[in-house]
Amino acid sequence: MSQGLPPPRVILGIETSCDETAAAVVVDGREVRSNVISSQVALHRAHGGVVPELAARGQMTAITTILEAALDEAGVTSADLDAIAVTHGPGLAGSLLVGVNLAKTLALAWRLPLIPVNHLEAHVYANWLEQPDPDAVRPEFPSVALLVSGGHSALLLIESHGSATLLGQTIDDAAGEAFDKGARLLGLGYPGGPAIQREAESGNRDAVPLPRAWLDGSLDFSFSGLKTSLLRHAQPWRLPDSPRDLPPGTVFPPHHPPVFRDGFPVADFAASFEEAIVDVLATKTMWALERTEARSLVIAGGVAANRALRDRLAQQVASRFGADGPTVSWPDLSYCTDNAAMVAGLARHRSPLTGESAWSLDAYPNMAFGESRSVR
Ligand code: KG4
Ligand code: ZN
Repeated sequence: MSQGLPPPRVILGIETSCDETAAAVVVDGREVRSNVISSQVALHRAHGGVVPELAARGQMTAITTILEAALDEAGVTSADLDAIAVTHGPGLAGSLLVGVNLAKTLALAWRLPLIPVNHLEAHVYANWLEQPDPDAVRPEFPSVALLVSGGHSALLLIESHGSATLLGQTIDDAAGEAFDKGARLLGLGYPGGPAIQREAESGNRDAVPLPRAWLDGSLDFSFSGLKTSLLRHAQPWRLPDSPRDLPPGTVFPPHHPPVFRDGFPVADFAASFEEAIVDVLATKTMWALERTEARSLVIAGGVAANRALRDRLAQQVASRFGADGPTVSWPDLSYCTDNAAMVAGLARHRSPLTGESAWSLDAYPNMAFGESRSVR
């Protein structure tokens, strides 16, 4: 920590990187006193995905109510806080600016240090929230992290809360993006991950042969071929020679339910699609564990909410490594998708900023894992 000062204990976290508006109060990096989230899912559902300008406006109108609720629920006032933490990248520029601007204003008004937090690192940190024993670091380091969200898919070796090595990452779509695009093709709506998981429950996971990109044993991921393969199974729309021949009021896909060439029910497509993603994620995570001396595996990001992925990894790690192998964990559901508890928690392990370095803080939409505020 800077200037040898003790780390701040009571931290207010603010998270506005995408379409969730969130604020939380966390003590000592693990004790969650409040975790308030407002989701814009209903707003974006009609558009089949997040519309950046709507997201930013939604952040602006929700943020003060959410802030007030987080302080009330935790039973604290500004006088009890030691620092303000905020996600400053990566994410949507307009959305990030709302949180960063609020955090700077509060830090100035309340004379508190400001702690910028990387959204991706916060997702991984969610696995260390609410650990019951303050004297033990659990999960133990080094840890392999499978970080799978709407914007990112990566395997990382985490040596401590301050240091990580990238083992592999997606070369095209992120896992969550693949779920969202797949659900759109299947007419299952937005967000795609939970919709596919629900539909897959009644489907046959082996029904539809879909490709897996193993990439010669590399720990990188690729999901674009899978999406294209699913698209090929959807019967192409036959358009008439002239647009004038279309019946009035014709609506084009994806607003129409798709028709599938092979006659399988949608549930079989959903189950086979989920299986293809889970198979690749789990297999490559097992390779990462075999190639490192990791003592734990943590799953993080929105896709960590996927039940099939969690079950598959727990089962494969147990059968490959036995009782002495790495522990497997994932955050509580409320800490998987975007939230501010993970931001306030990680901030306990980051250096606070004061003065000019705090007031010049900016938002960085393309920040990578491990990048800090000084990198544009
Ligand atoms: O971490 P997150 O809330 O936002 C980003 O930082 O991207 O992740 C959102 C992503 C979406 O793509 C959503 O479809 C996916 O997480 N997701 C899931 C599940 N719940 C959310 N994917 C698979 N299965 C789920 N149960
Ligand atoms: Zn996220």
